[in-house]
Amino acid sequence: MCGIIGLTGHNPSQNILLDGLARLEYRGYDSAGIAFFRDNSGHISVRKTAGKVSDLRAICDDDNTSTCGIGHSRWATHGGVTNANAHPHKVGNVTLVHNGIIENYHDLIKEFNLQDKLVSETDTEVAAATFDANYDGDPIECIKKTVSKIHGTFAFCIMFKNRPGEIYCTRRVSPLVAAFTEKDGSFVASDLTAFIEYSKQFFIVPEDTIMIMKADSMTVQDMDGKEVTPEYMTVDWDVTAAQKDGYPHYMIKEIHEQPAAIKRTIMTRIKDDLPDFTEDNIPDSLFEGVTDMTIIACGTAMYAGNMGASLIQNKFGIPVNVCIASEFRYERPVLSENSLVIVVSQSGETIDTLEALRLAKTKTQRTLSLVNVKGSSIARESNYVLYTHAGPEIAVASTKAYTVQVVAMYLIAAKLGLTSGEFTEAECKKFIQTMQTVPEAMQKMLDNEQDIENLTRRMTNAEHTFYIGRGQDYRLAMEGALKLKEISYIHAEAYAAGELKHGTIALISEGIPVIALATQQSVYSKVISNIREVKARGAYVILISMDDEITDPSICDVHLNIPKIDDDFAVFEAVVLCQMIAYYASIGKGCNPDQPRNLAKSVTVE
Ligand code: F6R
Repeated sequence: MCGIIGLTGHNPSQNILLDGLARLEYRGYDSAGIAFFRDNSGHISVRKTAGKVSDLRAICDDDNTSTCGIGHSRWATHGGVTNANAHPHKVGNVTLVHNGIIENYHDLIKEFNLQDKLVSETDTEVAAATFDANYDGDPIECIKKTVSKIHGTFAFCIMFKNRPGEIYCTRRVSPLVAAFTEKDGSFVASDLTAFIEYSKQFFIVPEDTIMIMKADSMTVQDMDGKEVTPEYMTVDWDVTAAQKDGYPHYMIKEIHEQPAAIKRTIMTRIKDDLPDFTEDNIPDSLFEGVTDMTIIACGTAMYAGNMGASLIQNKFGIPVNVCIASEFRYERPVLSENSLVIVVSQSGETIDTLEALRLAKTKTQRTLSLVNVKGSSIARESNYVLYTHAGPEIAVASTKAYTVQVVAMYLIAAKLGLTSGEFTEAECKKFIQTMQTVPEAMQKMLDNEQDIENLTRRMTNAEHTFYIGRGQDYRLAMEGALKLKEISYIHAEAYAAGELKHGTIALISEGIPVIALATQQSVYSKVISNIREVKARGAYVILISMDDEITDPSICDVHLNIPKIDDDFAVFEAVVLCQMIAYYASIGKGCNPDQPRNLAKSVTVE
C-alpha cells in the first residue's frame, strides 16, 4: 500500500509528480505530499496534506520550477490520517517517502535517541530520523548503515540536503520500478502507471541495492558498491490504458474492457482449439502426474481460484484445496513434490500471497502464478508464470482482473484434463471453442447496461443483502457479495443456497434483497426451491438465470436474463451483472466506487 514516486530531470517536476501520484492513488488515498529542491538549491520544501492528490494540488505553488522531487500517496498504517502523518517526512538533512512497514521503530527510537526529533506518529519518520542520525555527508554509507538496522519492509526515495538534483532509492520487498530516458531523466515509482507516458521500458529495482538517480544518469549498486546492471522490460500498453477514457469511473471502464481483456489472455494460449503454453515457457510436464492442487490467493483473486478449483475437481477428480494466503502462510503446508500450487494475484505484490508462495516452494517446485503485473515479485519468484493480460487495473475493486484470472484457470483446467486423460481431445476442443465465445457473450451483457442500472436502483436503500447459488453460482455469489460490500458499504453475505436453512435463513425478513444466481442447469430445480424458501419469507428476489421467461413469475421480483451458454461459462455473463449491481448501488449511494473507504488496491502489509 502507499504509492511513492521520484523524478529528477530537465523539466519542472511538480506537475509530473502530481499526475503520477494521481495514478498511484489506488494504492492509498488518506493523504498526499511532495518534496522538492526549491530552485534546485540545497533547500528542500515539503507540501503535504491529509486528503487526496486533488487536495495536494490545491496547495502547490504554480511557480515551482524544481526539476527534482519525490511524492507519496498514503494508506495509513501507523498513526491516523493527519497532515503531520502525511509523507514526505523531513528530519535534519534527510527528506524521504516510504512504502512498507518498519517493524522495529520503537527500538530505533531508543537506540538512536530520536524521541525529541519526531513530530508525527509514523514509523516512517523514525526511519527518516535514523537515516539522519547515520548521515555524515555520504548518502551511500548512510543508507547501508541504516537499512542494516531496519526490520520490516520498505521502499524509500530519499533526498539529502547537500545533494540537490539527486534521489537515492532502496527497497526490501515493497515494489519499486524505475526508468531512465536521455530526454526526461530518471524516474522511480511503486508502479509503472505513474510514469508510463515517459517510458514504456522499465526495470524492477533489485532488492538490497542502492539506486542513485540524477538528471543525466541512473546507476544501481549492491551493498558492497558493485555496479548492478538492471534488466529492462517493456510493456505493450500506453498511457490511455491508465486513463478513464470518457467513462465516469475507472471501475465501469474496466468492466467494459473485459471482452478485450479475455481475448488477450486466451489468444496466444490456444493452438488448434487446444490449450498451449509454449509461449509462456510452461512445459506440459508441469501438469503431468499431478496428485493434488492447492490454490493460494486473497480476496477476489481467491474467488477466481475457487471457480477454477470447482471446475478442476468436479470435471477431472483432482483434489483441489483453495487457501486464503494469510492463513496458509501460518499453517503446516500439506504438499508433496507432485502437488501443483497455483498462486493468483493481480498485483503480484500482495504480501501474504508472496509469503505463502515462498512457503509452498519449500515443499514443491511445481508453483505456477497467475499474475497481471509484469515483473512483480510473485511473478518473479514462482517457478512458472502465466500473465493475465488485463492491462492496468486502477479501480480498487477488481473486475477485469477477476475474469481474466477465471479464464486463465479454465485454460489450466483444460490442460490438466488433457494431460490426466480425463478430457478427450474432442472434449477439450469443445470446451476451448466455447471459451472463445465468451468475449462476445460478455459484450451482449455489457450492451444492456441501462436496463441493469434501472433494475438495481432498489439496492441503494438496502442495509443487508444475500447472494445465493449452488455450484459455480455459489462461487460467483462470494465475489458478487464482496464487490457490493467493498464499494457500496451495503452488508452482503454469500450463501450456498442449500445451506441457508441451517441457520442464516433466520435473517431473511420482509424486503431484504436476495440476489439469486440460478445459471447452473445441473442444479437448477434445487436452487429454485431454495429461492422459493426465501421468497416465502418476504425476500425481494433478484433472479439471475438463463430463462427467456420464468414459468412461475411469483418466485422473483426482478429477473435478469443471461443468454444461454454452457454451465461452466455462465459465470462470465453473470459476473457482469454482479459487477454492475455493485457499481450502480455505489453510485446510487453517492460513493466513489474507484476509491472505497479504508481500502487500497495493492495490499503489501500483512
Ligand atoms: C477486491 C480486490 C481484492 C484483491 C486482493 C488480492 O475487489 O481487489 O480482494 O483481489 O486484495 O489482490 P491481488 O490480486 O493483487 O493479490
